Amino acid sequence: MSQVTEYSEKVMDHFSNPRNVGEIENPSGVGTVGNAKCGDIMRIYLDIDENQIVQDAKFKTFGCGAAVATSSMATELVKGKSVNEALKITNKAVMEALDGLPPVKVHCSLLAEEAIHAALWDYAEKNGITIEGLEPPVKDIEEKVEV
Ligand code: FES
Repeated sequence: MSQVTEYSEKVMDHFSNPRNVGEIENPSGVGTVGNAKCGDIMRIYLDIDENQIVQDAKFKTFGCGAAVATSSMATELVKGKSVNEALKITNKAVMEALDGLPPVKVHCSLLAEEAIHAALWDYAEKNGITIEGLEPPVKDIEEKVEV
């Protein structure tokens, strides 16, 4: 993917008109991840049916424009996916779907990937199941970012 230095039209669209804002009552799984460096926090709610398909996804993000846009796109991407497919939604996939992010904003997209993982972890714990390849979630994304 070529490097971008400013926000794409898709990022601006998802920032100004974010999809799936809000919360799900009695969610199958909820995941919250923060970034201590910038103080931003993202929470993703998932509604997963008995066939392990994500029926709905919502988010609440207290963060920068890129964090809002990546939450919006991540919740769009995760809907309709099985839990195993949902696990494979990387921050790169979210960025690609948004036509890229400026390099200084790449870490914001990691919040989206991790918040989905945290919500899947919560779902797996509540239901006593194991999702292969899913690692315990981090509370702060800095634990995953190489410094
Ligand atoms: Fe904090 Fe974007 S600057 S998530």
